[in-house]
Amino acid sequence: MHVLLLQGLLAASALCCRCSSAQDLQQTPISITKAESKTVLINCHVSDPDFNNVFIHWYRKRPNTAPKRIAYMSSRLFLENKSDDGKFSIEKDATKSVCTLTVSKGTLQDSAPYYCARWDEQQ
Ligand SMILES: *[C@@H]1O[C@H](CO)[C@@H](O)[C@H](O)[C@H]1NC(C)=O
Repeated sequence: MHVLLLQGLLAASALCCRCSSAQDLQQTPISITKAESKTVLINCHVSDPDFNNVFIHWYRKRPNTAPKRIAYMSSRLFLENKSDDGKFSIEKDATKSVCTLTVSKGTLQDSAPYYCARWDEQQ
């Protein structure tokens, strides 16, 4: 059986407009290993008093490529690629200040580090 390895990494400061915000975003769990075709949830804790309105972006980092944004969300979901409909979804839980990326029916192509990020300009 093929195994998927999806990593939710701490938001790298290079991805954030202000370096200090790396402290504000915390992803858990750090590493997730699942069998192929399973669904994987990656959480990102966001410390922000305006959690409901803040834009959270999710990036996937494939080998030898720059991180690519796959989706983002404020109060509704925006997918970068329409064909990812059903593959990626994002939910925000305001009671926990947690933003969750769901990767459905994982394939080996989905095995990658995923980053959450927040950009100052959209706050
Ligand atoms: C969108 O996804 C499809 C299927 O994975 C892929 O073939 C296509 O290149 C993607 N488009 C962009 C703009 O990334």
